[in-house]
Amino acid sequence: MNSYSLQGQVALVTGGDSGIGKGVALELAKAGAKVVINHVDAHEVAQLTVDEIKANGGEAYAIHADVSNEAEVIDMFAEMFQHYGTIDILVNNAGLQRDSKFVDMTLEQWNTVISINLTGQFLCAREAAKEFIRRGVVQDRSKAAGKIICMSSVHEVIPWGGHVNYAASKGGIMMLMKSMAQELAPHKIRVVSIGPGAIETHINQAAWSTPEALEKLLTLIPYNRVGVADDIGKLAAWLASDEADYITGTTIFMDGGMTLYPGFADNG
Ligand code: BGC
Repeated sequence: MNSYSLQGQVALVTGGDSGIGKGVALELAKAGAKVVINHVDAHEVAQLTVDEIKANGGEAYAIHADVSNEAEVIDMFAEMFQHYGTIDILVNNAGLQRDSKFVDMTLEQWNTVISINLTGQFLCAREAAKEFIRRGVVQDRSKAAGKIICMSSVHEVIPWGGHVNYAASKGGIMMLMKSMAQELAPHKIRVVSIGPGAIETHINQAAWSTPEALEKLLTLIPYNRVGVADDIGKLAAWLASDEADYITGTTIFMDGGMTLYPGFADNG
């Protein structure tokens, strides 16, 4: 049982149909929020998450939209407002990788990652912030007028060869998050990032699904285990709650120590 509640609050989780997004959606629903599951892939997959939330006694429904498409994002917010009336929590989670050696990286690989990971967060945050400002704080619901949680990565600070588009998108999210937090705080809007390390999802399957890969990956994780979506989900739900009411403009890393430069433990 959580010591806090998100009862009566409406949350949108982009890319909420799988991976970390699904873990976040389940935890927000468990804490009492009504959850909109945004997805770009098959509706049936998103519906499975919706069904799981409903089976646990929660409330959710799915909306299709490509977060990098301005018109689709605006339509998604309009549909959500029609369905649930407003928004209290945005989890800017949708993201992907298009990996390549730097000199072979195509403009398409670069643009795809920047559009979805970074521009997508801008578009959704802008629409959410407009509604938070219009509506303001609602008594007995939350101390904040709204909460924006950006899914970043340890790669907002750890450079990542072979993935420069991804690392650049996450570095961009850091300053997007901080600048939004600075500008929106007077409106009682909190903006924070979560910086996951290696979390077992489809995005990094090659890095954990064989014993050899796992052994190599664990050399980067002092705490010696790969994370699960549930770890991130619990943090996101807590960050969205009033327990975290004084946190804004910062990244909380959840990475088993990946950002501790483990290579230095017995070197340097
Ligand atoms: C990436 C994963 C990677 C992890 C740690 C994440 O942001 O999406 O592929 O395993 O960072 O390097």
